[in-house]
Amino acid sequence: MVRETRLSREMLVQPLFVVPGKGVKQEISSLPRQFHLSLDKLVEEARAIHGLGIPAVLLFGIPESKDAQGSGAWAADGIVQMATRALKRALPGLQVITDLCLCEYTSHGHCGLIQPLGDGSVEVLNDPTLDLLARTAVAQAEAGSDLIAPSDMMDGRVAAIRGGLDHAGHTATPILSYAAKFASAFYGPFREAAGSTPQAGDRTGYQMDMANGREALREMQLDLDEGADMLMVKPALPYLDVLRMARERFDVPLAAYQVSGEYAQILAAARAGWLDESRAMWESLTAIHRAGADVLITYFARDAAAAL
Ligand code: PBG
Repeated sequence: MVRETRLSREMLVQPLFVVPGKGVKQEISSLPRQFHLSLDKLVEEARAIHGLGIPAVLLFGIPESKDAQGSGAWAADGIVQMATRALKRALPGLQVITDLCLCEYTSHGHCGLIQPLGDGSVEVLNDPTLDLLARTAVAQAEAGSDLIAPSDMMDGRVAAIRGGLDHAGHTATPILSYAAKFASAFYGPFREAAGSTPQAGDRTGYQMDMANGREALREMQLDLDEGADMLMVKPALPYLDVLRMARERFDVPLAAYQVSGEYAQILAAARAGWLDESRAMWESLTAIHRAGADVLITYFARDAAAAL
């Protein structure tokens, strides 16, 4: 009765990875109990997830082929667009959130267009990337995405995406900005799952410095000013202070992403017999909600909803 923090299924979002093909349901080696799913299996899986009372899924696509511009991200028949259409057709009540980034689609693995520098490193070209992000947002909205979630971290991308969506008539499609996204070691298992590790350089040029909490608040304010409807902090557990500060400062809905490495470390330790998986899951999710997250994006969503 006096418990201050209660978890509910309505706050959970399950990330899903869609791949080309048919009949594919392949466990991701770095993310036990998470799968690469072809469209048919994706719909099956999403039906089960929705049946557990989870209101939304977050879609990531792994394209058939990649190129320097990441054209699979915005193609009308791109993998995420096809998946969104299939999900909205089969399960109209399920909210489809689409991750918006180029890194799963670029051959070099960066989140934007790049220019190689002489010394073997690369420069990510912020402004030319904005057009491609806006194009991708429009393609996702046309396919029926309920919420566009840009994770690329280019400067000015929320304004560019908002402008692109409005111009194409998608004035009612909201944006969930990965506003405070830190350059983190905890994305390791995801990059294996999405094949999106940069071939040269890293993401410290556009993702945030882990040491800077106040800067994260400035980034969040900028994204709100540019038109974001919801904000995200990512990863979750190592950045609870940022989540709490954001909760105190902003009135918009806040999401936290318990990322692949946070999930994988609990599973790995549990497999070694070093901690109790279920208790570690509840403790971490409760802490993230207690710190101020309204929405919990987590690879545990399915397990948590089944137990709630
Ligand atoms: C794409 C993206 C990443 C994640 C979500 N969107 C990877 C990255 O930035 O390298 C990470 C999610 C996770 O680790 O679960 N930019």
